[in-house]
Amino acid sequence: MKKIKNILFVAMFSLIIGLQTIGSFAAELSELESGIYDIKNEVYHENEIGMQMSRTYLDENMVLEKNEGKWYYTVKFKGTNYMENYRILLDGNLVETEVVSENDEEHSIELKFETTSIIPNIEAQIYVDPMGRDVEFEINPQEDTLTLVKAIEEPKKEVVEKTSIKENEKVSKTSNITIFIVIGVAVILVIAGLVFKKSRK
Ligand code: HEM
Repeated sequence: MKKIKNILFVAMFSLIIGLQTIGSFAAELSELESGIYDIKNEVYHENEIGMQMSRTYLDENMVLEKNEGKWYYTVKFKGTNYMENYRILLDGNLVETEVVSENDEEHSIELKFETTSIIPNIEAQIYVDPMGRDVEFEINPQEDTLTLVKAIEEPKKEVVEKTSIKENEKVSKTSNITIFIVIGVAVILVIAGLVFKKSRK
């Protein structure tokens, strides 16, 4: 009897956690209003010196913006007098970058590249002169800091496409939740039935 009660408790707990997980999925780019956004980043390198150096030379503010139907990130490096040969990898693949601005007095450079996700796996590879070699570190955009700076009006055709993508996503999310609830409730009913049957014996 106690065992069944425990199972019932675990089933209910799993149902609650499962529902919370479904509700907390990261937003997709297609769910974002077209515009220019500010977003902050964190860096990651496996060792402490690497972490500190990456943080020093990468500006913590980056820009996410939609232009002609595509989303782009812009990152800014400082200390360009020490660096050359900037490369950006998204999910392990080298991507094309465009130099948006270069400031020789401030020793900074801004690089823009296309992204298909708000939080892709971004890696920077840079040759550092004083170190005499390439360095590599992760750039992790922090979704909870995403702030719309300027909304951009998109051409009508695209708005229709965007709406239908949004609606499809909404339908599939809702049906996922429904399936999850139905299965969860069924499991709880079966276990509750067993508990009831056993307690009547
Ligand atoms: C004055 C310029 C710099 C000096 C003197 C310098 C020096 C060093 C030293 C002594 C180390 C530890 C030893 C080593 O791993 O070789 C190191 C590590 C590192 N530095 Fe720099 N650094 C400079 C600029 C930069 C810049 C501009 C970046 C990146 C944008 C950078 C990123 C790193 C990283 C990621 C590590 C860890 C390397 C690894 O373990 O692979 N450093 N640096």
